[in-house]
Amino acid sequence: MYTLSTLSAAYARRLDGCDAGQCKSVLKKFGLAAVSVIILGKQLTAVELEEYLRLFHQHFTGLKATRKWNIPGTTYFQGTQAKKELERRLRLRVRKCRRANNDDDSESVLFRLAKSDLPEDDIVDNLLMLWAAGFEPVRITLAWILAFLGTHPEVKQLVQQEVEALATRFCADKWDSSSSDAIWEAVRSMKYTECVLYETLRMRPPATHVSFGINPRLSSYRVGEAVVPAGWRIICGWTGTFNDPRVFEAAESFRPERFEHDPSPLGFTPFGGGIRRCPGRFFVKYEILLFLFVLFQHHRPHIQATTTPTMDKPNVSPRDLLITLGP
Ligand code: HEM
Repeated sequence: MYTLSTLSAAYARRLDGCDAGQCKSVLKKFGLAAVSVIILGKQLTAVELEEYLRLFHQHFTGLKATRKWNIPGTTYFQGTQAKKELERRLRLRVRKCRRANNDDDSESVLFRLAKSDLPEDDIVDNLLMLWAAGFEPVRITLAWILAFLGTHPEVKQLVQQEVEALATRFCADKWDSSSSDAIWEAVRSMKYTECVLYETLRMRPPATHVSFGINPRLSSYRVGEAVVPAGWRIICGWTGTFNDPRVFEAAESFRPERFEHDPSPLGFTPFGGGIRRCPGRFFVKYEILLFLFVLFQHHRPHIQATTTPTMDKPNVSPRDLLITLGP
């Protein structure tokens, strides 16, 4: 928690003077740096961070390539090379951890998996999946939260008040002498800001759907009135539900208070559902709340924004955002 809070404070400071593009870059780096602490048990250096961002970018671009030609020079080829490099680096870390007897990084996911009986390939696979999935949605969510706070000064005011009250209650020194436990208690008590997070995930979910692969050998089956033919893939999208006034009253308005009462578990699924539900959902909640806590504890941010999504990429990031940090 302490490493994450110093990391959050450092990146929150970097938002000063940022427009939408710069904000995207700062938040992306924060997302990757934070998830790396949890997964690798290590704070990446600035050089490592740039390098990993480049490798992930190539890996993701390769996944999206329409032509899967594994020929040098193609986007797909570069993507597979980048993935191999990421796996190679993880493998080295896993081996090192398996050989070593110290438990300095015992909190990290890598340490726990390395000390388990799982085969090395499975460990590397799992680590890469968690690592890759763990920073892009964080960047998107944080950027939209800031944008909504910019367009809803009354909500921003309530967040500021909540953070100031909790900081006074739990953290003796605003800058860095608060203990991990105190910060943890404060972040766990951010009830209103948590509603802001959920309302943002409702209006701008980073993931808009999940798709279920269906075994082509299964026979057709019925879901309510509908018959699903054998071999069909089902895509379950939730932006319709999130914007449905029968599920969320005045669905077009940004109203964090609606989450003061538990949302319907079937009506609100930004992290998916069932056995594939996002394993990062608890971590991400505290990661984002912690970031907002340090941002509002240390500053009185002024945020200029619009919250209209671009039509070609509806949920990717707000296009107008300008942040200045007060004292
Ligand atoms: C706001 C942030 C996030 C959102 C909205 C989000 C959302 C989702 C969604 C919708 C899925 C698909 C679930 C399904 O198929 O039912 C998913 C899967 C996944 N998420 Fe997240 N996620 C977030 C952050 C994270 C973080 C921080 C991590 C890692 C630390 C993470 C790790 C994963 C992994 C590994 C999967 C694949 C699970 C599987 O296929 O079994 N996510 N996430």
